Amino acid sequence: MAPHSTLLGSDITQLRAAGVSLVLDLADGGLPRVLHWGADLGPLSRQALEGLRLALAPQPIGNPVDGPVPVAVLPEQSAGWLGTPGLVGNRGGRDFSTAFRVSRSELTADDEQPGTGGSLLVRAHDETAALELELTVELTPTGLVRQRASVTNRGESVFALDALHLTLPVPAAATELLDFTGRHLRERSPQRTAFTQGLRMRENRTGRTGYDSAYLLAAGTPGFGNRTGEVWAVHTAWSGNHRTYAERTFHAVSLLGSGELLLSGEVLLEPGASYDSPWQYGSWGVGLDELSARFHRRLRSRPHHPQVPRPVVVNTWEAVYFDHDLGRLRALADAAAAVGAERFVLDDGWFGSRRDDRRGLGDWYVSDEVWPGGLGPLTDHVTGLGMQFGLWVEPEMINEDSDLARAHPDWIMAAGDRLPGPARSQQVLDLGRPEAFAHILERLDDLLTTYPISYLKWDHNRDLVEAGHRPTGRAGVHQQTLATYRLMDELRRRHPGVEIESCSSGGGRVDLAILERTDRVWVSDCIDALERQQIQRWTNALIPLELMGTHVGSGIAHTTGRRHTLDFRAGTALFGHFGIEWDLTAADPEDLARLAEWIVLYKELRGLLHSGTAVHADHPDPAYRLHGVVAEDGSEALYALVAMATSELYPTGPVRLPGLDPDALYRVRPQAPGDIPDGNAHHWGVPLPWWTPEGVTLPGRALASAGLQAPVLYPERLVLLRATRVGSASAR
Ligand code: DGJ
Repeated sequence: MAPHSTLLGSDITQLRAAGVSLVLDLADGGLPRVLHWGADLGPLSRQALEGLRLALAPQPIGNPVDGPVPVAVLPEQSAGWLGTPGLVGNRGGRDFSTAFRVSRSELTADDEQPGTGGSLLVRAHDETAALELELTVELTPTGLVRQRASVTNRGESVFALDALHLTLPVPAAATELLDFTGRHLRERSPQRTAFTQGLRMRENRTGRTGYDSAYLLAAGTPGFGNRTGEVWAVHTAWSGNHRTYAERTFHAVSLLGSGELLLSGEVLLEPGASYDSPWQYGSWGVGLDELSARFHRRLRSRPHHPQVPRPVVVNTWEAVYFDHDLGRLRALADAAAAVGAERFVLDDGWFGSRRDDRRGLGDWYVSDEVWPGGLGPLTDHVTGLGMQFGLWVEPEMINEDSDLARAHPDWIMAAGDRLPGPARSQQVLDLGRPEAFAHILERLDDLLTTYPISYLKWDHNRDLVEAGHRPTGRAGVHQQTLATYRLMDELRRRHPGVEIESCSSGGGRVDLAILERTDRVWVSDCIDALERQQIQRWTNALIPLELMGTHVGSGIAHTTGRRHTLDFRAGTALFGHFGIEWDLTAADPEDLARLAEWIVLYKELRGLLHSGTAVHADHPDPAYRLHGVVAEDGSEALYALVAMATSELYPTGPVRLPGLDPDALYRVRPQAPGDIPDGNAHHWGVPLPWWTPEGVTLPGRALASAGLQAPVLYPERLVLLRATRVGSASAR
């Protein structure tokens, strides 16, 4: 039976899914409060739910108001909350504070399948402020909480909305915070702090998801790790300005909150107009891996999630940069096809006057200068080799030195008449302007109609600085973000088979809203494998491997100058959507042969890598990392043991293999290719006793707790371990 909706007959409700319980309290007609978000409490009777409410009701002592201070998912000062307010705005200087009363609440759940989550829709009004609020709080089948709010102006004058934040409470036991910072070439750097009293506010004002964004903001029990400790995290699914915060007060309230960061005057609600907040996602787990798996399963359940094996990509950027030449690119396509590539992506430089990164953005016409016969000769060659063809675009941007800017200078976003300083010599095209939007849509639609393009690499290479609409002078990041979504949605509607990669000077636009309309993210412009180990690990905290673009670069990394073995580069790219970004026409035959071996392995394993559960060991030695993927049914797993540096330990000692079925028996063996397939880390080394083609057979439980001896590796090398279920542990 399909899920059905009922008016909520009770003022307290419990949703359960995938080991999580969410208990929502709507007592006294106020906005919903989360009584519990975390480990499943089992099915609770109404009496038990009321008992929980009673047990958790705070003592009304010394509060700003008489009586307890309930903190709703949209916290309000009218309820006595003096922390960060849920809704900030005013109507001509009045109505600065809200007091919403719930008029209707409706629960949608599947009675036939209890324990698969559900959705609570709450409608509330503030008659004084003349505002209506619609709040959706869901527990998804994978155990993620997600919520959003929509506020409508029911008054007769404009309501200026400054902020709308939603929150989720975490227990006092969550005393440590983890969030992320980053920059170009070094995305998603973790940072840990104590969760002390006060507000830790992470704001992003770059007009894109941003490098220096919280990404995930997690609070956990002391020392929580990949596999241990309880941890709660929120993610703000928004690709424009946003805030994500952790707040702890002396009232023993700890919250994780988030919302869009609205610029001054950006949302002025006319009578009858509404504002929709981004979705806020919350995930709980024992260890980060469990928390991440909920996001991964959710993303995998998207209707458009790629169902076909992720093709091996060859991207032209680091191979030729702006040197577009049919002969050279044909040769690259030949070399790539010969090693097993399946998709050829033509990067920046094919259009208008774009012979370098200073001009041409906005002129989305194939350049006669470098492509006198159009792109046809190249697309014919690529498709003739059996590869798909992909094309780079950057639709939200414009160079001042472009025909488009010369024809429509007022399509450039600016605060009044003052143009923002250029970044990468470019400006932002105002897609909130209908004519500009229509022009770009027509250009992209035409390209997708003319050429056999099955993939767009959609780039976005600057922050939005003073991004206003002209001539009104109103702040425009909110509209720009929505217009970008509309543009992608419309192109997908017109060209349903076309995949889109979200790129933003590398990994500057990675969030769950952009992933509602894209099929992979470009993780970073840094394809130095050592840096990538770190960047990919943390990108994977939110999104699964098949959505992460991971490429093998040339022997010397273009962005760091480091030199790495092909095995280290390819073994790093294996854990993602594999590609090549290297001038293969200049590679030596041994490298090409070895790369072909890695591609054979990727093709063999991509089914596992792109459907299994990602696992990361809590290895005590900072010099070594162990991560992997375990099949959902526990039948097999692939692990990478990575030496990030030299170790204090010599030999290295055992590593534990997490995530296997504890009751099954596994054969673990080295998987070639790899840096030391014969077990010889050093020229004087003696192979580990178990490092043989037969490997060693042990129960999953023993591998997870006793582990097995790891080979000593040179720094910046890796080996692969393959585990195959061979029976039941108890049968032995
Ligand atoms: C930034 C991207 O991250 C790169 O991969 C490449 O596409 C360049 N832009 C092209 O300008």
